[in-house]
Amino acid sequence: MRQTRGVREIHVIGIGAGDPDQLTLQAVKAMRSTDVFFLLDKGEAKADLTRLRRDMLDAHLPEGAYRVVEARDPERDRAAGGPAYSPAVGDWRSARADLYERMISEELDEDRTGAFLVWGDPALYDSTIGILEEVLERGRVAFAYDVVPGVSSVSALVARHRTGLSRVARPVQITTGRRLAEGFPEGVDDVVVMLDAHQAFRAYADQDVDIYWGAYIGTPDEILVSGPLAEAAPRIERLRAEARERKGWIMDTYLLRRRPAEG
Ligand SMILES: C[S@@+](CC[C@H](N)C(=O)[O-])C[C@H]1O[C@@H](n2cnc3c(N)ncnc32)[C@H](O)[C@@H]1O
Repeated sequence: MRQTRGVREIHVIGIGAGDPDQLTLQAVKAMRSTDVFFLLDKGEAKADLTRLRRDMLDAHLPEGAYRVVEARDPERDRAAGGPAYSPAVGDWRSARADLYERMISEELDEDRTGAFLVWGDPALYDSTIGILEEVLERGRVAFAYDVVPGVSSVSALVARHRTGLSRVARPVQITTGRRLAEGFPEGVDDVVVMLDAHQAFRAYADQDVDIYWGAYIGTPDEILVSGPLAEAAPRIERLRAEARERKGWIMDTYLLRRRPAEG
């Protein structure tokens, strides 16, 4: 990033999907040039994910060399009052832009560098880049930003299963549980599903499909299951329910792979 005098700098840093060893050298370098870290999380996973980020900071930065500003993510707590950065009620996207704008202008001096530590890769189902663009468009606070890619949960999933994402010259689609519930995407045999709270894979258990499933990938709680969907689905359902009960939250991702037609 070009240093511009008097303009705040911001790193959007992908930190990997849960394993602290997935932090890249580029991410550590960016962290070391950061004065203020903005940590945003939501829901039940908040405490665990915030702790993981703080552990990463402790592991790679000298004590006292940085400041952390924690804020509530407006997505769920939009209407809640109270703590300093609880945003006003309203459209959550603009509520988030309000929050980011306020954090940057109030917590980051000009000439200083801030960073958002983003789960996985900032390019995948994450709104940090879009929100920073919206803040810039508003024009009330100026900053330059760059993006450090991270190991996504998709890369981590297939690596742990020792399989590939794509088959020779074939497309792959990454989608959400909600989309998968509307139907298996056309023209693709390899579909990665994220953000699935309802186990949409169950609808395809009668088809010739294999599943590669992972929960809490890269963390000590990691669970992996793979095999023909018909056999694996009930097992995943049981493990998922148990883990969710035990931890209070779950993050899982899976690859559905249609078996080639015989003959
Ligand atoms: C809001 S998206 C963020 C994705 C993230 N930017 C990435 O690159 O992985 C959250 C979804 O990512 C997936 N996910 C993230 N970390 C995971 C992990 N450690 N194990 C399994 N799934 C994970 C889950 O599907 C979860 O619902």
